[in-house]
Amino acid sequence: MQYSSNPASTSTETGYEAWLRYTPADLESNAREIQEYCRHIALPKSSLVLQTAVSELSRGIASMFKFEPMIANTRQNGHGLVLGLLQSDGLVSSLIDIPNPESLTPDSYVIQAVKTEHSAAIVLAGASDAGCLYAVFHFLKMLQTGQQFTDISVLETPKNRLRMINHWDNMDGSIERGYAGKSIFYQDNEFTADFDRIQDYARLLASIGINAISLNNVNVHDTETRLITKRYLPDVARVATVFRKYGIRIFLSINFASPIQIGSLTTADPAEPEVQRWWSTKAEEIYGYIPDFGGFLVKADSEFRPGPFTYGRTHTDGANALANALKPFGGTVIWRCFVYDCLQDWRDRTTDRAKAAYEHFRPLDGQFKDNVILQIKNGPMDFQVREPVSPLLGGLMSTNQLLELQITQEYTGQQKHLCYLVPQWKEIISFDTYATGEGSTVDKIASGDLFNRPLGGFAAVSNVGDDSNWTGHLLAQANLFGYGRLSWNPELSSEQITDEWVRLTFGHNPTVVSTVTRMLLSSWFVYENYTAPLGVGWMVNPSHHYGPNVDGYEYSKWGTYHFADCSGIGVDRTSESGTGFTAQYFSPNKENYNSLSSCPDELLLFFHHVPYDHQLKSGKTVIQHIYDSHFQGADEAQALLEQWNSLSQAVDYQRFRQVQRKLQEQAEHAKEWRDIINTYFYRKSGTKDEKGRHIY
Ligand code: GCU
Repeated sequence: MQYSSNPASTSTETGYEAWLRYTPADLESNAREIQEYCRHIALPKSSLVLQTAVSELSRGIASMFKFEPMIANTRQNGHGLVLGLLQSDGLVSSLIDIPNPESLTPDSYVIQAVKTEHSAAIVLAGASDAGCLYAVFHFLKMLQTGQQFTDISVLETPKNRLRMINHWDNMDGSIERGYAGKSIFYQDNEFTADFDRIQDYARLLASIGINAISLNNVNVHDTETRLITKRYLPDVARVATVFRKYGIRIFLSINFASPIQIGSLTTADPAEPEVQRWWSTKAEEIYGYIPDFGGFLVKADSEFRPGPFTYGRTHTDGANALANALKPFGGTVIWRCFVYDCLQDWRDRTTDRAKAAYEHFRPLDGQFKDNVILQIKNGPMDFQVREPVSPLLGGLMSTNQLLELQITQEYTGQQKHLCYLVPQWKEIISFDTYATGEGSTVDKIASGDLFNRPLGGFAAVSNVGDDSNWTGHLLAQANLFGYGRLSWNPELSSEQITDEWVRLTFGHNPTVVSTVTRMLLSSWFVYENYTAPLGVGWMVNPSHHYGPNVDGYEYSKWGTYHFADCSGIGVDRTSESGTGFTAQYFSPNKENYNSLSSCPDELLLFFHHVPYDHQLKSGKTVIQHIYDSHFQGADEAQALLEQWNSLSQAVDYQRFRQVQRKLQEQAEHAKEWRDIINTYFYRKSGTKDEKGRHIY
């Protein structure tokens, strides 16, 4: 293929700027009319975050319009932008009225055009400093995506109080389930010296509304246990300073056994007064360094991590002890619900990992302190390409909750494959749990609205590393962007989010926009087609989880089985003959999943064990569906590559090649998936492909 005639071939873009490129070339013509406003910025009051807001605004303007705006603390005559705070700012209040000020939350903001006979202003004002920063990023996005400013009147309030990113970074620089290089925070058991990069990350996160970040792996090893000691707290405080400028609070994952490991105690029993005192003193010490420290993220009694069970205590005892210590300082305990028996005997058909989170935490509902939030993975297993929604979402009515998603593509192609997860997340958050009748969707549970909880929101595992484009696969940036947008407003559609990201990342060439959009929106289904079928999951190589291995986890201790034999496949989770998992759902989900005739095809093997010739709602047999979807999926992966190749003259060379290389690998690897899965099931079932295609 020839690239020399590509007009963009001299571009040096690596993807580092992500969606904050602010290139003049991408401005839509109507955005140019706004230039006059951008020459003057009035910032009546200042603060750390407002300074960030004004410098982000100036930077965006300078980059797009090639002039530096004038910044003053009063308004000029003529056109101008006014930055500030709703309600507490005289200038802002003199320009705009908020009809329902009581509906605002601290992160709310307004973008409003105000015209008088002699002057015209666009007000970018927040209910807090951070709100103003969000208004600025929104305004810059409007410029880049060519939206109209005439009579503009935007009022935004995030649906979620907490919009969090979890890093699974270790201090040696490695990242658990990281696929984009090494940690941007740590190297050789020290903090990195590259704080500029951390700041660039903070910008990206703030621009999509993220307001909290945990800085280390939930599996807290020896060195990371010491993050809450004098050895590292000064460094943690420096990182917190960077994020603070962008309205983001930091959290740390802690080791529940810290009182033993870094204290001088012989126990970490949360009921022991000396242990409680130890955590209180520790909290005081941490807040001495970081006054706005968010709190602790805790993985306890899960996958060999220490926890309260060692002392015969419950999750409530453990979480509440930490919550008491953080309470005087306004801190929060985020306690993860990813708790199950990871030493299961595969011969034991009565234990069902899918049931574990609900069984552990449902009985504790209402017993957690107000500053505890339970973090619940979206599915009952573990971030598979397709799982039902965890029944714990809805099962807890008197407990603060965070929905946990995984941006990093552990089971969805590890950022070598394109798998855009926004459509998956949309299905999850719009799932109706029926917890309080129709309309009890997951987004309302997570936000706290459904059960009137004071705290709540979304958390997700980051897909970022030190690769020059942050996410390894350039198009995986769309997952980070999409997560932020959805955590701000779960009601946005996949199409809206995708359109924003594509335009911000690649500009407005209609062919590029439509092609990349189509690729992204189809990619989750494509990935599902050539990997594990019909919701059964887990057909991956053990440990690193990349690539097909149908029996990789079949005889393991991890509780992740498909039970394929010569006559059928799937996990019977019905109440009558199976594990009874379906009973954890509210009606009518309970009955729908329990019954073979109403269970949706895409989750059939999650809930039922069926013969290979069982007929799906699509009219196909299960075995024919496996063959068809795998042949189709591999063809579709090849088609993704071809669609991208069609853009060789329209996308700048470096970014084009980055994506092309990944898609080439995906197309090849999809064939591997296709052939291994099809061959396995052909050999098990002895049933030939109706269409006579080649199976080995
Ligand atoms: C998965 C993942 C682990 C991770 C765990 C968790 O099992 O493979 O690496 O530690 O989830 O969420 O805690």
